[in-house]
Amino acid sequence: MKILGRYTGKLGDIAIWESEKTRDRFYLEGEIFQSQSSATGESRLPYVKMMEAFSTMLARSGKNVTVVDHNPVSFDVAKRFFGMPKEISCFVEDFKEYLAAETRSFDGIAIDVGGPGFCYEEQFDPATCHSITARLKPSGRAILNMLVATDFDAAPDMISSDLSEGHMTSWIFDHPGRLNRNVLIACLPRLRRAASRHYMAKFSKTVGCGWVLRRPRQPSHGNRPVVVDIARTS
Ligand SMILES: C[S@@+](CC[C@H](N)C(=O)[O-])C[C@H]1O[C@@H](n2cnc3c(N)ncnc32)[C@H](O)[C@@H]1O
Repeated sequence: MKILGRYTGKLGDIAIWESEKTRDRFYLEGEIFQSQSSATGESRLPYVKMMEAFSTMLARSGKNVTVVDHNPVSFDVAKRFFGMPKEISCFVEDFKEYLAAETRSFDGIAIDVGGPGFCYEEQFDPATCHSITARLKPSGRAILNMLVATDFDAAPDMISSDLSEGHMTSWIFDHPGRLNRNVLIACLPRLRRAASRHYMAKFSKTVGCGWVLRRPRQPSHGNRPVVVDIARTS
């Protein structure tokens, strides 16, 4: 492996590595592995391929693409080392603030945010989930990636429930039992129950890689916490 570039990031040092054997490129921020792709920019990460397939929002397919990242270095890294087309509109902003201020509607919204100290449950609070669904066209879809440590993490279910509002519904793609895994939450217009299940099952077969598809379990962020009174025995 050789180092192609080093940057000082907001949340830790950023390093871009290249494998001398495969020529694949790797992006590390602090201790966190952020990306891997071929030198021409094809992602090696199954979850990114799945996000691409779901949201149909690639510049190559003729859609206008807007990219938001709070770290300006990410755009430089993406354009210099990961094949991001130079003409894509880039906004340096926190994704929540960007969504709250944006007034346009989109065919697809793909959200892949994270890094050192990032907390999905806090960042994707009910107001942010609402900003996501509010910025979609009536037939639009959103997909978001999150990192989950264990099966006991309730954040995917909370966020997914909060994304199921109005005419939108959501599904969770997961690998239950794996530690520190990617979980994808797909949000799409509510179809008839059977049609929706059929569509999502067909989609998950297309993308492969053994994802398990399920609906969110309640509760959402909005539910009150359960308080358990434990009696003292001594
Ligand atoms: C996992 S990387 C994205 C990888 C990319 N999707 C790919 O295909 O390789 C996560 C990105 O989220 C950005 N990020 C983290 N927190 C953010 C926030 N609050 N608002 C906007 N961007 C954020 C980081 O700077 C980093 O570039």
